[in-house]
Amino acid sequence: MASVTSLSDSVQQHLASALSAALPEAADADPLLRRSDRADYQANGILALAKKAKANPRELATRVVSGIVTGEVIADVEVSGPGFLNITVADRAITENLAARYTDDTGRLGVPYAAHPGTTVIDYAQPNVAKEMHVGHLRSAVIGDAMVRLLEFTGENVVRRHHIGDWGTQFGMLIQYLDEHPHELDHKESEVSGEEAMSNLDRLYKTARRLFDSDEEFKTRARRRVVDLQAGDPKTLAIWQKFVDESKIYFFSVFDKLDMEVRDPDIVGESGYNDMLAETCRLLEESGVAVRSEGALCVFFDDIKGPEGNPVPLIVQKSDGGYGYAATDLSAIRDRVFNLKASTLLYVVDARQALHFRMVFETARRAGWLNDDVTAVQLAFGTVLGKDGKPFKTREGETVKLENLLDEAVERATAVVREKAGKVGLTEDEIVENGRYVGVGAVKYADLSTSAVRDYKFDLDQMVSLNGDTSVYLQYAYARIQSILRKAGEARPAAHPELALAPAERALGLHLDQFAETVLEVAAAREPHKMAAYLYQLASLLTSFYDQCPVLKADSPAQVENRLFLVDLTARTLHEGMALLGIRTPGKL
Ligand code: ARG
Repeated sequence: MASVTSLSDSVQQHLASALSAALPEAADADPLLRRSDRADYQANGILALAKKAKANPRELATRVVSGIVTGEVIADVEVSGPGFLNITVADRAITENLAARYTDDTGRLGVPYAAHPGTTVIDYAQPNVAKEMHVGHLRSAVIGDAMVRLLEFTGENVVRRHHIGDWGTQFGMLIQYLDEHPHELDHKESEVSGEEAMSNLDRLYKTARRLFDSDEEFKTRARRRVVDLQAGDPKTLAIWQKFVDESKIYFFSVFDKLDMEVRDPDIVGESGYNDMLAETCRLLEESGVAVRSEGALCVFFDDIKGPEGNPVPLIVQKSDGGYGYAATDLSAIRDRVFNLKASTLLYVVDARQALHFRMVFETARRAGWLNDDVTAVQLAFGTVLGKDGKPFKTREGETVKLENLLDEAVERATAVVREKAGKVGLTEDEIVENGRYVGVGAVKYADLSTSAVRDYKFDLDQMVSLNGDTSVYLQYAYARIQSILRKAGEARPAAHPELALAPAERALGLHLDQFAETVLEVAAAREPHKMAAYLYQLASLLTSFYDQCPVLKADSPAQVENRLFLVDLTARTLHEGMALLGIRTPGKL
């Protein structure tokens, strides 16, 4: 068995057929069915439909009600207020539906694939070579990784692209310096940690910079190097490669700390499009999309103006012949559309680059590279702020080293885990492993649980708190279920559709059934924070369920089994949902 029709879909179908019988012109109308506190579901759409048909809403609602077949799925339906429908689902239907999810042997909890999957090329986790990663790079990585997982789960073909900044004028200076001081990056690769790699690069960058600023002749030699680099001079490229390799050691160590898979072949940096740049410019100029202005190749937009009202162009090629960020991105679009056959281009990039992408996408549309079948979207994210509400920096005003930040999160989380470790009987190894998953999970969850475009405060105390909307809270909910399952002894989880359900069981069950819709909506709307919200609510409903419904001490053996089944399905749903966000759920915590 594979995909399971959710209860809300079944209810919707019943409702739709009763509605079109009562009001034929409303055959395709949306009855606006929602989960509700008053009943299991409420349909609010009749009002507007009645208005449109110039009918009395309560009367129409009453006619719809009389047309609804109650029984297997819908236990009860009544009109409320001016013409709302309150719908109650049969207990048996809830349990049977959940049982179908539980036994889905594809391991997908009955979640269907998206109706029309395509190919998404996702641009995320794009740090810059020879530079320290900052919290913005963390956001792109965390949100991008969640999007990859969510989209793949819905059946989308996902191609990952890490558009690292590995090209440009600053490399002239670095390469020239390293050529003149050839042994500064020499080491046996296996011995270098990410931190060392970064501090090597950092030191080299600073000394090269000092020389560049103080020594005119070095400056001239450095400038010449940029030209050599862009022309593909082999010796220059070989030195450049050293920087890229050293930087990758550092990047991989950060991604590894983040418990995130970044694959080398998916790293296609700015340099990867070098061969396409001239052609991209030629195509844009020949088609008239770009024009020469003061020697530079520019694209103009009616609605994009500077402070003085003068047009701000997208510069594709500078007047000195050099290519910048825009030319690279436009070439990457051509590659992604024509070679990778993308139907969607997704860019997980800082909101402060929104204007750049607006101009790049519009240019690509004018050139015909993007159209109704191939769309490009920026999944823009906001700034990470410190506790003081200002962009996150160290007290000295420097960017915070990502590795230190992650280490600190893990350290705090390990302390939290250790405090409870005695009760659960964790070994030292387990404490260390869980500390890592809780710490990294805390950082990821904090990032993912607010809408991406919003800024958020980086507050480790809050992130590892056991109460509130945190990953630790969800991880404990999962572990608590595992502990109950271990204590269950002979009793095994089993669904008993014949049992009446308590209110807390119904609430938990109906929410569990909505996992499928949530996944599909979250993936399509690219809103991972809604998955976080779903999971947090799931954990909260589980807590109310525990308060009201004993599991191992339930009234009858059948009820024990049914409640074990409910909590086990909750655990699996938590596990899957967290995994889609890139967060682990340790079995013992
Ligand atoms: N490397 C850039 C930065 O650090 C992000 C790259 C975003 N991707 C792109 N295709 N432009 O800001």
